[in-house]
Amino acid sequence: MTERISIHGQWSSRLAFILAATGSAVGLGNIWKFPYITGENGGGAFVLVYLLCVLFIGIPIMMAEVLIGRRGRQSPINTMRTLAHEEHQHGIWQLIGWAGMVAGLLIISFYSVIAGWAVAYVFRTASGAFTGVTADGAASIFAGLVSDPERLLAWHTVFMAMTVVVVSRGVRSGLEKAVKILMPMLFVLLLLLVGYAMNSGKFAEGLAFLFTPDFSALTAGGVLTAMGHAFFTLSLGMGAIMVYGSYLPKNVSIAKTSVIVAIMDTLVALLAGMAIFPLVFANGLEPAAGPGLIFKTLPLAFGHMAGGTLFGTLFFLLLTFAAWTSAISLIEPAVAWLVENRGVDRAKASTVIGVIAWLLGIVTIMSFNSWAFEFTFAGEFKGSGLFDVLDILTANIMLPLGGLAMAIFAGWYMSERSTKDELNLGDGLLYRGWRFAVRFIAPLAVIIVFLQLLGVIKV
Ligand code: PHE
Repeated sequence: MTERISIHGQWSSRLAFILAATGSAVGLGNIWKFPYITGENGGGAFVLVYLLCVLFIGIPIMMAEVLIGRRGRQSPINTMRTLAHEEHQHGIWQLIGWAGMVAGLLIISFYSVIAGWAVAYVFRTASGAFTGVTADGAASIFAGLVSDPERLLAWHTVFMAMTVVVVSRGVRSGLEKAVKILMPMLFVLLLLLVGYAMNSGKFAEGLAFLFTPDFSALTAGGVLTAMGHAFFTLSLGMGAIMVYGSYLPKNVSIAKTSVIVAIMDTLVALLAGMAIFPLVFANGLEPAAGPGLIFKTLPLAFGHMAGGTLFGTLFFLLLTFAAWTSAISLIEPAVAWLVENRGVDRAKASTVIGVIAWLLGIVTIMSFNSWAFEFTFAGEFKGSGLFDVLDILTANIMLPLGGLAMAIFAGWYMSERSTKDELNLGDGLLYRGWRFAVRFIAPLAVIIVFLQLLGVIKV
């Protein structure tokens, strides 16, 4: 086979891909979502299930997704079409690309609204609003923000515009350099926050909450959320990693880079948890406070530490940046597809997708104020508002199903010769282990979690 070339270009090096993929993976999922869903699902047992999912489902599927992308070298829809054809399989496999594009649009619609909170907090913190703040004060500042649809819309608009600007220039220019400097800075600031949490008096309690598994606190829904989060935090199952893989040079090791990305992503999430839960307990807050958790707790740290205004501003700036590098990967599959199939240029394609996502974002904005209500029908959605429904539908259902399909395609429908050639791990234990994981472990785990939730089986 002569090697295909992507019309969108290539990463300049192995490091560039690692940075871009880490930029996609590390985002609101690690710092905003991981702590609040851990708080809602009782802590340690949830964290353990999440870590196991990253290891046994996330890493093998990430390798599958990257290898599919690199072999197809196009947007996920066209990559799946090409590979299905090449492997003599049914064209229905392109559905992975289509479903992923829809999932990406739904995710970016709420992701951008939440990222808007982070942008708003950059200015809040810089203005000194949190100096000496009390827990009640921080909670009411947050409530003031989310109850005001106009402010939410303004910040959502700013963030969406930032995303469109980068994507329209092509994801490679600028991204590599920025991630190289800002990621390590985010890491250092998280360490600083953990250091602050160590002196909060409740560090041990926070650690115990995170790392002592209490399985009586974990429900079937919690297991699904933990698994869904493994997909969400690693950007898997919708084509973001596939499209980034399509820009990966042929000589780079997919296995090594996938493991590095997963480790960095997990570290950031654990550090965020270690920074936040001690503060939650030290201030008598509720771990299950929901999506506002970090916005109600971190200002307490910044409001009371030396140099807090500076560090706090920097932190929310870096959080915005982390969200930004994830957001661009959420719309890249759709943009690449428009460029390939509609012959439009990147700027136009990004703008079209950005406008659609911006409009969809209004649902999330309103779900925190004017349209705040809870669904009452039974099942996974009981007690959820519109935002929760979007979150559950995408992270807990669409991403795991997308990942399941990718694993099955790579494990059962691609020839061994193709996957072996792409992974370049030889024929030893590493390759065999991967193949076993995508053929059996990952699919069965996803299927069992779903069946359990549907009440078909009881584990
Ligand atoms: N992984 C990103 C985060 O944790 C979110 C994301 C999901 C990005 C799916 C791309 C695809 O914030």
